[in-house]
Amino acid sequence: VDLLSIDSLSDGEIAEILDRANEYFAGNRGRRSSERLHGKIVFNVFYENSTRTAMSFATAAHRLGASAIALSVERSSVAKGETLEDTARTLNAMRPDALVIRHRENGAPEVVAEIMEAPVLNAGDGTNEHPTQALLDAASIRHRIGRIDGLKVAICGDIRHSRVARSNAKLLPRLGAEVRLAGPPELMPDDVPSLSIDEAIADADVVMMLRVQRERLEAELGDAPGEYLSRYGLTRDRLAMASADAVVMHPGPMNRGVEIDGGIADDPGRSLVTLQVEMGVAVRMACLELVVAGGV
Ligand code: NCD
Repeated sequence: VDLLSIDSLSDGEIAEILDRANEYFAGNRGRRSSERLHGKIVFNVFYENSTRTAMSFATAAHRLGASAIALSVERSSVAKGETLEDTARTLNAMRPDALVIRHRENGAPEVVAEIMEAPVLNAGDGTNEHPTQALLDAASIRHRIGRIDGLKVAICGDIRHSRVARSNAKLLPRLGAEVRLAGPPELMPDDVPSLSIDEAIADADVVMMLRVQRERLEAELGDAPGEYLSRYGLTRDRLAMASADAVVMHPGPMNRGVEIDGGIADDPGRSLVTLQVEMGVAVRMACLELVVAGGV
């Protein structure tokens, strides 16, 4: 079984992943937690840059007793023009027990999954999905607030290009949350009704900010440097409009002073940014266990 999108997961599987992640998070912080995947091999194949996702999948594999092997794509035969399909056939012939892939093109993980006999996990494809990010976001919310059902979650920023927003917009409503998407009109998808940032944040229990690519600031928004924060970013004033004990999330990497005030990001009373990273390891352990061992 692959883990390619939120829709491909059943409600039961989502519940299993979140519960198991919570156990790993609570019980064994920083230690090898299980030998459940002892002797298994996980391939990490990242065609796009990554700090959190790549390192946490590798850490998760090791904590389950598996070995993680990373292909450094820029030094691989991809640079010699090998197709994605041929790369997949090559990697399949080495018989890994799972393959984690990040790719700039939507649907690339499906293409690879067709060829691989081992389970494939999507670590982010283009502007499509980033399912394990949404799962770690859900697990972080539940850990901090105790529930997801009934919460109002504002997701703000470059919604049009965000796979994090897409996966969260699929997952969180299935768990009972109301998701509000907001961003600069230029960065909203055509099929999503446009809310202002202020409307989305009003009364919200969770405010999730997304990275805006610096090159889009001037090209698509015509923003002078420093203008984005006051127009669309999370400032203290805006956060004051959310519910009194609202929490703040960001998948990283953050542009401090652009989409989020740096002081808010560092405020342990508000910010779940570090929790998200730590929970990311626990969630990816649960995901690897589900797809490789066939259950958690
Ligand atoms: C995100 C991604 O790559 O989709 N980062 C992540 O995985 N935590 C978000 C981003 O790059 O802005």
